[in-house]
Amino acid sequence: MTMKILICDGLHETGLALLGEAAQVEVENPEQPTPEEIQTRLADCDAMIVRSRTRVTAELLGHGRRLKVIGRAGTGVDNIDIQAASSRGILVMNTPGANATAAAEHTLALMLALARHVPQATQSMREGKWDKKRFMGTELCQQTLGVIGLGRIGSIVADRALCMKMEVIGHDPYITPEAAAIRGVELVSLEELLARSDFITLHTASTKETRNLIDRSALAGMKRGVRIINCARGGLIDETALYEALLNGHVAGAALDVFAQEPPSGNPLLTLDNVIFTPHLGASSYQAQTNVARAIASQILDYLQHGIIRNAVNFPSITPKDYEKIKPYVILAERLGKLQGQLSAALERLEIEYSGLEFQDLPLQPLTQTVIKGLLEPILAENVNLVNAPLLLKERKIELVTSSTSESRGYTGLITVRATGKDHACSVAGTVFPGGEIRLVRFINYRLEAELEGINLLVQNLDKPGMIGFIGSTLGNYQVNIANMHLSRTPERDRAIAIVRLDEEAPQEVLQLLRSHPSILSVQQVRL
Ligand code: NAI
Ligand code: 3PG
Repeated sequence: MTMKILICDGLHETGLALLGEAAQVEVENPEQPTPEEIQTRLADCDAMIVRSRTRVTAELLGHGRRLKVIGRAGTGVDNIDIQAASSRGILVMNTPGANATAAAEHTLALMLALARHVPQATQSMREGKWDKKRFMGTELCQQTLGVIGLGRIGSIVADRALCMKMEVIGHDPYITPEAAAIRGVELVSLEELLARSDFITLHTASTKETRNLIDRSALAGMKRGVRIINCARGGLIDETALYEALLNGHVAGAALDVFAQEPPSGNPLLTLDNVIFTPHLGASSYQAQTNVARAIASQILDYLQHGIIRNAVNFPSITPKDYEKIKPYVILAERLGKLQGQLSAALERLEIEYSGLEFQDLPLQPLTQTVIKGLLEPILAENVNLVNAPLLLKERKIELVTSSTSESRGYTGLITVRATGKDHACSVAGTVFPGGEIRLVRFINYRLEAELEGINLLVQNLDKPGMIGFIGSTLGNYQVNIANMHLSRTPERDRAIAIVRLDEEAPQEVLQLLRSHPSILSVQQVRL
C-alpha cells in the first residue's frame, strides 16, 4: 500500500530525493500551508515532517487518522504535543545534533555582532553616517562566557569560545564537573555563573523546569553590563524582565534568535537599540538543512518500511546493530504477549523477565513494549501499537514489573512473561533457537518445545491413557486438521498438556465437546 508523507515546513532537496526514490511512497510538499490546509491534507497521511513553524496540537492530530509518525527536521520538539501523539500511538522523532554546528556558529556570530555592534553600525551607514565613536565595542578575549546547558550545542559553543581565548564557565545540573572539565569548562552553580559572566548564552531545551530560567531575580544576580545571547528557546527568558533590564542598562545588550511568540510581532524588545535579532536562524545553514533533511527522511522511511525506530522522543531508540540482535526476540516477545493476552482476563500485574547472556547490554525496553502490545492487541485490536502500549497498560491499572538476569535458566536467551489477576496466574516462557526458530519452552510448570505460531489449542487434562486419541478423533470428526502437536506433563505426572496446532480454527462446538470430557481440565484456543 502506498504511504503518504506530508511535508509542512519545507525540506531540503536531499531529503526530498530520498523520499522520492523510495518505493510506494507519495510526498505532498505544499508551499507554506496554512494550519487549515495541513489539517485537511493530514487526513490520509501516514507521516508528517515539520520544522518549528507548524504547531502539532492534539486537535490537529485528531485529523491524522492514518498518522503513524511525526518527523521533526531539527532538534526542538516543543511545537509538538508529545503526550497527545503518544496516546494516539504516533511516534515522534527528531534529528538531534544534525544542526548543532549551525546553531553553535550562529551563537558565536551573534555574540561577536553584539560585542561590536555590527547590525547597528550597518544600519547607521545605510543612513549615510560614519559614526566611529558611537559603536565602541568590547573584545571577547579574556572575557568570561557563561554557558547554560552543556549539551550538544553548548559544548560546541564552549569549544569555539575557548579558541577565542574566553574563559568559559558552565552550568548544567545533568553533567559532572569531570565531563565539563573535558570540554575545558569549569562547572559552577547557576548563581555563580550569573554573577561571574560577561556574556551568557543559553543552550537548554524548553521544559517545565527551564521555562523563565532567566527571570527578574536571575537578571538581578548578573553582573552590571552583562550581554545575553539566546539561540535556544524564547521561553527560557522572561522577556518583560529582560526588556526592563536592557532599558535600565543592567544588561548591556542581548542577541536573540528565538522568542516566546514567533514571529514576535509587537514585542517591545524589538524597539530597543541594544538588542539584535535574527528570525530563528540558528539551524538555517545549507549544511544543517542538508543534514536534518537526509536524517529525517531516512528515519521516517526506516520506520514506515522496516519498523526500525531511531531518535524517537516517545519510544526508546535502538541502533540498527542492536535491532539486528533483538529482531528474533521482538517476534518472540510479541507472540508471548499475544498468548498471555488471550489466556488472561482482568489482569492486575504483568512481569517480564529477560534471562541469559543474549540480553546483556541490549536495550530491553523495546522488547517490553512489544510484549505489552502483543498482550493488549487481542483486546484493543488496531488501537494499540508500540508507542501507546505502555500508556494503555497504565490506563488499565496493570502493574508492570521487568527484570533481567545473566543467569541462563537453560537457554542463552529466555523471555518469561507472568500475568496475574485476582483469580488468575499464568507464566509462559520462550526462546529463540539458533537459526531463528521461536519456541514456547515453559507453560506454567510444563516444559516443552512448541512452535509459537498460527492457531493453537491448549488442552490441559488429567494424565490418563486415551486422551490424545480423544482430542484427535473429536477434531477429526469435525474435519479440523491437526498440523502438529506438542505434549508435556507436570513433574508429578498428574496433569498433561497438549498444544495442538490447527490448520483452521476449531468451531465452538468442538471446544465444548472437548471440555465436556471428565478428564479434560481446560481448553483454550489462541491465534498467534
Ligand atoms: P541537548 O539536549 O544536547 O543539550 C541540552 C542541555 O541542557 C543538556 O546537557 C541538559 O543536561 C541541559 N539542561 C537541562 N536542564 C538544564 C537546566 N535547568 N540548566 C542548565 N542546563 C540544563 O540539546 P541541544 O541539541 O544542545 O539543543 C539545545 C537547545 O537549542 C534546544 O532548546 C534546541 O531546541 C535549541 N536549538 C535551537 C536552534 C535554533 O535554530 N535557534 C537550532 C538547534 C537547536
Ligand atoms: C531546532 O530546534 O532544531 C531549531 O530551533 C531549528 O528550528 P527550525 O528548523 O524551525 O529552524
